[in-house]
Amino acid sequence: MLEVKNLTVGIKADKIKNVLYNVSLSVAPGEVHAIMGPNGSGKTSLLYSIMGHPRYVILNGKIFLDGEDITFLPPEEKSLRGLFISFQHPVEVEGVRLSTLLIAAKNKRAGESDLLKISDVRMIRDMRQLAARIGLKAEFLRRDVNVGFSGGERKRSELFQALYLKPKYMLLDEPDTGLDVDGVKVIAESISSAVSEGVGVLLVTHYARILNYVRPDRVSVIVNGRIVETGGPELAQLIDREGYSKYGVVEVDGSG
Ligand SMILES: Nc1ncnc2c1ncn2[C@@H]1O[C@H](COP(=O)(O)OP(=O)(O)OP(=O)(O)O)[C@@H](O)[C@H]1O
Ligand SMILES: [Mg+2]
Repeated sequence: MLEVKNLTVGIKADKIKNVLYNVSLSVAPGEVHAIMGPNGSGKTSLLYSIMGHPRYVILNGKIFLDGEDITFLPPEEKSLRGLFISFQHPVEVEGVRLSTLLIAAKNKRAGESDLLKISDVRMIRDMRQLAARIGLKAEFLRRDVNVGFSGGERKRSELFQALYLKPKYMLLDEPDTGLDVDGVKVIAESISSAVSEGVGVLLVTHYARILNYVRPDRVSVIVNGRIVETGGPELAQLIDREGYSKYGVVEVDGSG
């Protein structure tokens, strides 16, 4: 179980600026918890805070992974324990091939024992199969991570990395944004199949569409850094129809 308890977080800017207030939520293995909310409400900040981004300062609260307090562990330790974050805006890593990154990450997870290590040839073969499944051409394995990738290709590449590394929990930040219609379906089906194998998913999205394929167990709404409502899948449909006005969020239309 991934549990976030009463998390209050600030961002290091000129001074510390509060972004999250007393946020509590959890995801069990094989569960999907969707996070929705207006722009700037703190969704990305929540995922970064869980993962341990150094710009985010945890002022109060705790994060537990399978009962262990991981609140202040560095991101690499959280990663080795089974957390994976996919970025809303994936960064380019020049000079590092996608396949090289994943081979290094897989070996790191296998630990020091050579016995556990899988041959590079087998890893590449597995990667090719997985890439084909999610509509990423094999040539991307040889390209530098995200360099020159289109928006949709980056999103596919992020999910490809997640699926290849098989984490316990995936923190997915808008995996559907910028994907074509077929892409959303393919990505959603891949997420669902990981979930059916026991992966827990925290899924940030603006659109109910992806949730038609990846059925969330729970949907939480964040407004101004606070969880204002948690419900079932029907909450996503309601937001899709009516927006966030019921939470006192005023739409800016630029006409005033
Ligand atoms: N480095 C920073 N300095 C100052 N404010 C910041 C910084 N980084 C983030 N913020 C602010 O924190 C708030 C929450 O941002 P966050 O990225 O978590 O929103 P979000 O819910 O993911 O929005 P979106 O739907 O647009 O992705 C925003 O008001 C944002 O401007
Ligand atoms: Mg965001």
